[in-house]
Amino acid sequence: MVEKQPTPLIEIHDLTVAYDKKPVLWDVDFTLPEGKLIGIVGPNGAGKSTLIKAIMGLIPMQSGYVKLFGQGLDKVRDKISYVPQRESVDWDFPTSVLDVVLMGRYHKLGLFKRPRKADKEIAMDSLRKVGMEAFSKRQISKLSGGQQQRVFLARALAQQAELYFMDEPFAGVDAATEKAIVALLKDMVSKNKTVIVVHHDLQSVRKYFDWLLMLNTRLVANGPVDQVFTNEFLEETYGGKLTLLSEVTELMKKEELPNREKK
Ligand SMILES: Nc1ncnc2c1ncn2[C@@H]1O[C@H](COP(=O)(O)OP(=O)(O)OP(=O)(O)O)[C@@H](O)[C@H]1O
Ligand SMILES: [Mg+2]
Repeated sequence: MVEKQPTPLIEIHDLTVAYDKKPVLWDVDFTLPEGKLIGIVGPNGAGKSTLIKAIMGLIPMQSGYVKLFGQGLDKVRDKISYVPQRESVDWDFPTSVLDVVLMGRYHKLGLFKRPRKADKEIAMDSLRKVGMEAFSKRQISKLSGGQQQRVFLARALAQQAELYFMDEPFAGVDAATEKAIVALLKDMVSKNKTVIVVHHDLQSVRKYFDWLLMLNTRLVANGPVDQVFTNEFLEETYGGKLTLLSEVTELMKKEELPNREKK
């Protein structure tokens, strides 16, 4: 049965991105629906972060175009929130945790306006959601890696966007926190937000995501998880890394058949 697709939230056409003339994304073409928790998987160097950066207008494209909410990025920027991959962030600046989260409010405040009480409440509430409210006054550089990651998630939440890009948000985050954050993301999606997450743990793909994009320089597959998370597409995405693949196969065999998650 062909699933009827709602109006796409994201449209990518013939996207090619190269660094030093070497293409790392090749002719990538897809649409994504709104109101879903969407995973992006693929091996290291597959171009996952590059794809998000290209969508966010942070790196030039060799060819192709991107539409978000049916429009160019500049028209819809304040509806979009981006959490970069951890290693790409400079953690050494002397700023408090609360101030980092308040940065998520700046686009709503306008330039040079001071945050109001309501903004601070939203920021504190976001910190509470990731279990970091006790650290609000701490300098960001004086947190552990997983704690910093949680603060950057809080900043994204404080932005109250419609569309979220999160590049490996669970890297270095402990299992309990990961579980709590996934519940939070599912709750956001139930309110018609769209959350796009670069993810490496194949074992949790079915549990977490409604929709999956599989990438390895080229687009391998894009669709509802139960349709595209198959051995065939996994092999195409990950090539010959068979140990990993057979582990996932075993896991999939053990799983109860219905993939539908209780919300
Ligand atoms: N600034 C850069 N200059 C040159 N090459 C780059 C640059 N950034 C990334 N690359 C290369 O582009 C390719 C895709 O990188 P990208 O960071 O998008 O991969 P990824 O899928 O996010 O990988 P990972 O799972 O390791 O985060 C890699 O081969 C990488 O070495
Ligand atoms: Mg990456």
